[in-house]
Amino acid sequence: MEKIVNAQNLVLGYKKQEPVMKGGNFSINKGEFVFLTGPSGSGKTTLIKSLYGGIRPLSGTLEVAGINMVKAGSGKLTSLRRKMGLVFQDYKLIEEWTIKKNVMLPLIIAGYAADICEQQTAKLLNHVKLTHKSEDYPDELSGGEQQRAAVARALVHSPLIIVADEPTGNLDEYSAEVVMELLKTAHACGITVLIATHHIPSRFDLPYKTLHIENGNIHEIP
Ligand SMILES: Nc1ncnc2c1ncn2[C@@H]1O[C@H](COP(=O)(O)OP(=O)(O)OP(=O)(O)O)[C@@H](O)[C@H]1O
Ligand SMILES: [Mg+2]
Repeated sequence: MEKIVNAQNLVLGYKKQEPVMKGGNFSINKGEFVFLTGPSGSGKTTLIKSLYGGIRPLSGTLEVAGINMVKAGSGKLTSLRRKMGLVFQDYKLIEEWTIKKNVMLPLIIAGYAADICEQQTAKLLNHVKLTHKSEDYPDELSGGEQQRAAVARALVHSPLIIVADEPTGNLDEYSAEVVMELLKTAHACGITVLIATHHIPSRFDLPYKTLHIENGNIHEIP
């Protein structure tokens, strides 16, 4: 099985502080659907940051899509991020841009023709039920609507892997279901999915893997 993420003895943390992860061993196979669980403050967001090069490993090894995350230079990290779909815990939408332009951003960066950008963006906005908000700005949307826009942006360019930090955290039951269905559709198209969450949906009807972080350790829950 081809691995898209592979970590050995991975140590992660911040300056002048006990490491958040003290020697993690785990991997994610291509095409897998993975939930990342653990109490608040256990290190889910920290681990996600390490996957896109937001922080460097303190020691150990970490490979993401064949890139050595200990050594990779900024050029390699930029091209890796373009192949990823990232949903941040605080959304990180660009305030000066409309929702439509925010969602379109990964397509513009990838250099798609204008009509493809328009079509694909319209499709994703429809999926997350935000067509009527296309021309609005992020601060005119509710938290949950911004979260759905962030999910649409992460999926719009059919990335290799989606890494989503509590993508349903602020959503009501119906909207959470909409987002989960969208992530399942992405998975069905062969995209690897990693979701940090406090709640694995109770009737989740796909095979999935759970990685659990607690007290500086990470392990797979069988
Ligand atoms: N930039 C930072 N500088 C120093 N410490 C940090 C920084 N970011 C996070 N931490 C610390 O690292 C630990 C893990 O935080 P992290 O955000 O990864 O947890 P989490 O599992 O995502 O929590 P939550 O479920 O609340 O989102 C916490 O103790 C936190 O205080
Ligand atoms: Mg977090």
